[in-house]
Amino acid sequence: AQVQDISADKAKKAKNMAFVFDIDGVLVHGDRLIPEGKRALEILNGDNELGIKIPHIFLTNGSGKPELARTEQLSKILQNPVSTEQFIQSHTPMRALAEYYNTVLVVGGEGYRCREVAEQYGFRDIVVPNDIVAWDPTIAPYRVFTEEERASSRPRDFSKTNIEAILVFSDSRDYATDMQIIVDLLRSENGRLLTVAKDPVSQRIPIYFSQGDMLCPTEHPIPRMSQGAFRIGLEAMYKALTGVDLERVVYGKPEMATYKYADEVLASWMEQLHGEERIPDNIYMVGDNPASDIIGGNMYGWNTCLVRTGVFQGGDNDEANPANFGVFANVLEAVKAACRKEL
Ligand code: G3P
Ligand code: MG
Repeated sequence: AQVQDISADKAKKAKNMAFVFDIDGVLVHGDRLIPEGKRALEILNGDNELGIKIPHIFLTNGSGKPELARTEQLSKILQNPVSTEQFIQSHTPMRALAEYYNTVLVVGGEGYRCREVAEQYGFRDIVVPNDIVAWDPTIAPYRVFTEEERASSRPRDFSKTNIEAILVFSDSRDYATDMQIIVDLLRSENGRLLTVAKDPVSQRIPIYFSQGDMLCPTEHPIPRMSQGAFRIGLEAMYKALTGVDLERVVYGKPEMATYKYADEVLASWMEQLHGEERIPDNIYMVGDNPASDIIGGNMYGWNTCLVRTGVFQGGDNDEANPANFGVFANVLEAVKAACRKEL
């Protein structure tokens, strides 16, 4: 009976803890699995002494594909199920903006996949930079526009269209073209191309970025510049050209709105898993980037675990944003340590 009591107690504790995983630099590098990630997820999916599922969600600043396509790809790489209902990528909370704007410019990502993302979020009239280049190639003087791109774009007369907001969903594949078009729109009268507003502020359309990471770990040995670097370049250019600061909204980690959204996702995932919609008391965020995962988790009152498989390449702990639960060689070590503490 005593043994039964101990496992019942542990099972109760297991239901009162949850993990929030960063993806790039923790579970994968690009499309390459970090092997300890697979094992960590197996443990949480029930391959543990209690045979119980420990709730976990994924909170990534990654972007560029519809949620379903990305979770299917991740399930294959991680060899563990990843559901869209436990998955938040940088632009997921931006679906709420579909209610406010009719015509939007969506920037970033491969091919036309971000157009697809925006369609799924319910945006009604979606423009991508290639639609604008196809209308007037002189807008981007150094751009080489292929026939294939021309064939798949949707040009119209953008001097007669008001673009109501700019949404940067993912990394720009062509900084020169995207920055030119964004600056043109920000300086225009209410998002109408071929106009330049006299007052740079009153007729300026809003701009939203899906995340602010400066760097992203990839297959390359040194982390690559990400959307935050693109934004800072844009802000500097805009300021130099107009003399005013660019107001903008940034989503993703470590912005508070994203953590609040994660709480909602976690609560409904808890309901699916354990039949009770509540936020567990002990939440562990496992991340590799002190400037996004760790600072955000610390501010939000989560236990934070910093791993050495991604952006962080420092000493005992990060100096500016130290992980409050500790620094670990990899995600498996972090998961084991958290389970040892809580169970
Ligand atoms: O910085 C871009 C993105 O790939 C980072 O993803 O999973 O580390 O938040 P993640
Ligand atoms: Mg990361």
